[in-house]
Amino acid sequence: MIQIKNVKKTFNKTEVLKGVNIDIEKGEIFGIIGQSGAGKSTLLRCINGLESYDEGAIVVDDVTVDIKNKKVLRNLQKRMGMIFQGFNLLERLDVYQNVALPMKFWGIPTNTPEAKEKILNLIKLVGLEEKIHSKPRELSGGQKQRVAIARALALDPDFLLCDEATSALDPEITKGILALLQKINKEMGITIIIVTHQMEVVKQICQKVAFLSGGKVLAVGKPEQLFVWPKEREIREFLREESDKLPTTGINLKLFFFGEGNQRPIVTEMSRELQTNFNICWAKLEDFREDVYGSLVLNMEEKDLEKACAFLDSKNVTWEVIK
Ligand SMILES: Nc1ncnc2c1ncn2[C@@H]1O[C@H](COP(=O)(O)OP(=O)(O)O)[C@@H](O)[C@H]1O
Ligand SMILES: [Mg+2]
Repeated sequence: MIQIKNVKKTFNKTEVLKGVNIDIEKGEIFGIIGQSGAGKSTLLRCINGLESYDEGAIVVDDVTVDIKNKKVLRNLQKRMGMIFQGFNLLERLDVYQNVALPMKFWGIPTNTPEAKEKILNLIKLVGLEEKIHSKPRELSGGQKQRVAIARALALDPDFLLCDEATSALDPEITKGILALLQKINKEMGITIIIVTHQMEVVKQICQKVAFLSGGKVLAVGKPEQLFVWPKEREIREFLREESDKLPTTGINLKLFFFGEGNQRPIVTEMSRELQTNFNICWAKLEDFREDVYGSLVLNMEEKDLEKACAFLDSKNVTWEVIK
């Protein structure tokens, strides 16, 4: 549906995108995560044609986007709703008028009964029917983002592009916005691309994620694959993994639980079977959409390591010795 092929972009002699390759499928909620300055916003702007690129191609529905063709770009932007961290609402317009703005911009009449019904339905979809005539200054941050979402849907886009859409909101409000995005994805079949530096966002709703670092994709996969057992040092650092808090004597053995593992009494069984005790020195369990994933670190004496690993292998538990 969207293929980003070896896209390179330079600002003032600095290469900001260094050959990015990403495939985004229809109906997916796709996350692009990384530190500030990684190139996420630039990449998103390349996708919707707001930014040109020096090399590579972006293919939408099997057609390579011609970035020199203004008409092509305008039509692409029509198919892609955008929401931002700062909401970008017009202060002098009320909720209804803000949502109607893209239609006005495209010369679509907004005073027909169908247009009015459509705008009203969008406002209902985001749960703001009580605020229909409020100005942005009378709304909370979460409500403003809901208006921006309704506005982004006004032209029936195929894609919704979100750039740090929840970064200015507190965790409870963020959950509500993410639930709304999920509903839009499910019920309207809109493909959503979420750019964020917030791990929580990716964990909660993204089916797939690309980790961007210094203008390059370091890893792509399901969030649980990328983040429960990250092999790349940069991803570990981004997640602030456990290694600085672990004991410096004995062996630290990390166990991974993917989905079902936390249902099994692995550690106590292993302790009984090997007739020794382990010190659990670090653990985390995390929700990834519907499942719980996690890992824990056991500290043990070196002499127990071999038997412990054999036991874990026999139970199909993934493990790793932490250096
Ligand atoms: N319009 C611009 N002109 C010059 N440099 C830019 C411009 N936009 C972004 N950059 C630079 O590109 C790099 C990536 O920026 P950005 O895509 O905004 O990263 P992110 O969204 O991941 O924080 C940064 O070093 C930033 O300073
Ligand atoms: Mg950004």
